[in-house]
This record gives sequence, structure tokens and C-alpha cells, in this order.
Amino acid sequence: MTPVPDTAPASAQDSPDDVLAVRNLEVAVGGRKLVEDVDFTIRAGERVGLIGESGSGKSLTALSIMGLLPEDLRTTGSVRLAGVDHDLVGADETRMSRVRGKEIAMVFQEPMTALNPTMRVGRQIAEVLLIHRTRPDRASARAAAVELLAQVGLPDPEAAAHAYPHQFSGGQRQRVVLAIALANDPALLVCDEPTTALDVTVQARVLDLIVRGVEDRRSAMLFITHDLAVVATVCERVMVMYGGRVVESGPVREVFTRPRHRYTQGLIGASDLSVVDDRGRLITIGGSVPPAGHFPAGCVFRNRCDSASESCATRPDWRPTGPDSGYACFHPVPENGAHRTGVPMNQEAGRA
Ligand SMILES: Nc1ncnc2c1ncn2[C@@H]1O[C@H](COP(=O)(O)OP(=O)(O)O)[C@@H](O)[C@H]1O
Ligand SMILES: [Mg+2]
Repeated sequence: MTPVPDTAPASAQDSPDDVLAVRNLEVAVGGRKLVEDVDFTIRAGERVGLIGESGSGKSLTALSIMGLLPEDLRTTGSVRLAGVDHDLVGADETRMSRVRGKEIAMVFQEPMTALNPTMRVGRQIAEVLLIHRTRPDRASARAAAVELLAQVGLPDPEAAAHAYPHQFSGGQRQRVVLAIALANDPALLVCDEPTTALDVTVQARVLDLIVRGVEDRRSAMLFITHDLAVVATVCERVMVMYGGRVVESGPVREVFTRPRHRYTQGLIGASDLSVVDDRGRLITIGGSVPPAGHFPAGCVFRNRCDSASESCATRPDWRPTGPDSGYACFHPVPENGAHRTGVPMNQEAGRA
């Protein structure tokens, strides 16, 4: 059993608008907690970012929601999805396979992990439509597959449907993966660094297709990235993860312009190439992310934090600042503190 989440982010009451409700999620291996006290809600059509340095527990969070963790990792807590009458935590593979690719779909960093190298891509898309009975027969599934390939911007969708994954570029493969993920109009799309492995020139285009794909379907999205500028473009709300915990969350614009947690402040400083320290060096967060299970007790960030004091040896309570926002820090950045952000905010960011 996990403890009562008195330090977990406060969420609004469960409502019919909730697509995903994660409560007190914990992932552990051999007694070491890799993810702890994770608690959040995603509402219909909402796009929520999950950011943090490598090793913070972002991918484990996504994989535990999808029921895709290796067997030696133990997940506890609760993951509820609208329209699914059972908890996803502890659900057996038969039940999960009915949900995955239907109500909830995922795009990973590396497209080949999601594709079958020996099957034509049109057939791979048709399969997910047939398995979940979205299309009644092979002919209509095939036609829908070609239509999906057109939607993700592949120039000759008929020819693309006949091709094998290796015949595509990395960016095109990720579009195929997106077509498969969107095929059954999932209520929630989970993306884990979907453009990180792609050439910078194609990243923006693929991001655009992802956003358009979820907007057209009114799907909600959990979007994982280490790139703050991408979150600012894509998401309305953001959760900041460190040491397997959500340390801050809130509307993108608020969190990026007025971070409260010292870790968030550090991340923003580290993303800002226009700000240098008094010796002219780029600002980075001091120290490095400890291996899982080796974060300090109390505040997980305290061994890297300039503001840490004795009190930080105790775990900081979650301090709510709104229904979906708050932070867990004893020495928050003053609310009216003079600081700037290097995260490029465009007009799209944070629209609610
Ligand atoms: N199967 C596993 N067994 C043990 N530790 C793991 C396993 N998978 C991931 N970890 C550890 O859990 C931590 C969080 O990993 P991950 O969720 O992949 O981080 P992120 O996606 O934020 O970079 C890392 O320290 C990683 O080494
Ligand atoms: Mg990851």
C-alpha cells in the first residue's frame, strides 16, 4: 500500500470531463521507488506536458499508464480512463489490449519500436481498425488506412500503404506511427519525446501533425519532452517531474514565466541560451540527476538546490495554487521575484 497522498498534487474533483485520472501512482523495483505520489487529471481535449531532465521518471509514468512496464517493475495506485470500467493498474493483458490502440494510444521516440518491419504499413493501420472493430471488413479498413496516411501528410498515400517501414525516412515513419495511433480516435494520445530522434527540419512539421491530429479528434494528450520550447508550443498545462515526483504543475504560461519550484526555475534557466552567468557561461543546473533510488530523502532536489536548508530534509507538502496547479518546495521563488524566462512563448501557448 502506498501512503495517503497528503503531498500529492491536489486535483479537482472527478468530473465527467476527466479523460484520465491518475491517483497516487507509484512504480517500484526491488523496494526502490522510481515514481512516487504522482497524481493528476487530464480533461477532455486538454494537452498536458510532462517535462524534466533525463532520468526524472517521465517515461516510466507514461509506460505505467499504458500498462507497458517490464514485469519486474511494480505499479500501484490507480489509473482510470473515461469509458473504461476498470482500473488500468493491475489490469491483465487481455483487458489492456482492448484499451490500448483504442481509448488510449501512444507515440514513442523511436518509430521502429511501434512498427512491424515485415508488414506493409497500410496493412498495419488496417489491423488496428479491424482488431478494435472500428471498421467492419478488410476493404473499408484499407480505405481508411489510406485516408489516415493522407491525413498525416504522406504525399502519395496509396503508394505509402503498399510500402514497408524501411522504405520511409525517420520523419515519415513517425507519421505512419501517428496514423496508427490516431486510427481509432483515441480519447487520449500519449507522446513520449515523439520528435526527439528526428532531424530538426522535420520536427516542427511532425509536431504540427500531432497537434492537428488530436485537435481534429478532440483527443486529450499527455506530451512528454525535455524541450521546454516544444511544451510552450503544444501544451496548455505542464507538469514538472524530478526524482520520480511531480514537483510543480500549472498552466504553461504561468509555470514558464513565474516558476515557483527551484527545480523549475533551474530548468528554465538551463533552456535559456540568451542568459549567461557573471562569468559569461550558460546557466545549467548544478550537479546531475542521481540514479533512481538515490535521490535525497525529503525534497528530492535539495542536494542540487542553492536555496536548500535544514527544513528540506523533510518532504515538502504540495502547495496548491489552483485546481490543477501548485508546487512542492519550502523555498519557492518569490511570486513577484524579478526573473525572466528563456522559454519562447508564442501566441498559441497556454490557450485554454
Ligand atoms: N526497468 C528498469 N529497472 C530499473 N530502473 C529503471 C528501469 N527503467 C527505468 N529505470 C530508472 O528509472 C529512472 C527514471 O527513468 P525514466 O522514466 O526512463 O526517465 P525519463 O523518461 O524521465 O528520462 C531512471 O533512473 C532509470 O534508470
Ligand atoms: Mg524518457
